[in-house]
Amino acid sequence: MKKFLIVANWKMAPETPARAKALFAGIKKVAVRLPDAQTVVCTPALYLSATGFAVSKNVALGAQDVSYEKDGAHTGEISARMLKSANILYVIIGHSERRARGETDDIIAKKVVSALKAKLTVILCVGEMERDPHGEFFSFIENQIRLSLAGVSKKDIERVIIAYEPVWAIGEKAKEADTPEGTLETALFIRKTLAARFGKEKALAMPILYGGSVRPNNANSFLARGGVQGLLVGRASLDVRTFAEILKSAVRRKT
Ligand code: PGA
Repeated sequence: MKKFLIVANWKMAPETPARAKALFAGIKKVAVRLPDAQTVVCTPALYLSATGFAVSKNVALGAQDVSYEKDGAHTGEISARMLKSANILYVIIGHSERRARGETDDIIAKKVVSALKAKLTVILCVGEMERDPHGEFFSFIENQIRLSLAGVSKKDIERVIIAYEPVWAIGEKAKEADTPEGTLETALFIRKTLAARFGKEKALAMPILYGGSVRPNNANSFLARGGVQGLLVGRASLDVRTFAEILKSAVRRKT
């Protein structure tokens, strides 16, 4: 059985290297001892290759974005090959906060191709702005998946993870997280969409994560009943004790 994948998305925090280092060390201490969870910490780019951020058993580092350009004069950008050569294994692509800054499915598709070419594992974020009662959000998600994965081969899809993040459930302004039942339905739909494009076998092997107001009190219910194989955690990953509780909820029940 595969491990649960618990991804911390630190976004634009913590503010100082010292605090970032302490947070990473605290998370690592807990994460190395958990046999059922693979932890990925997506720090701001600045910290990715800094001292004090050494990866170890069960703990990897990820970036929060990547350029679609292979090389050349692109001020402010970081290429997929740069990440790879700094031993970064994962990259989040298409987070709703980047989409809100103008990132289109087309740009996301190019980033996905470029990351896969550099042999990174992609955490592709999809999710609706609103959950309408008629279920139109399903076709919105289907479209996001179709467009974002347009250039991905059947071979490379093995290095893609889908993070289902309903935008209405993310961040300070969110009223609440999704329910495990709601996520289960959407995760099944996502898998069906992936199967139509990449075949059933590939689709079944792909991890799907839930993200959006994950907390210690709901983490286990998503893993147990949400049809997902992991979590993408924002705010709650910025406090060692809170994130440690989430990590500890990633336990495979022996039945
Ligand atoms: P949140 O963010 O956990 O703070 O809601 C999740 C995310 O944006 O990945």
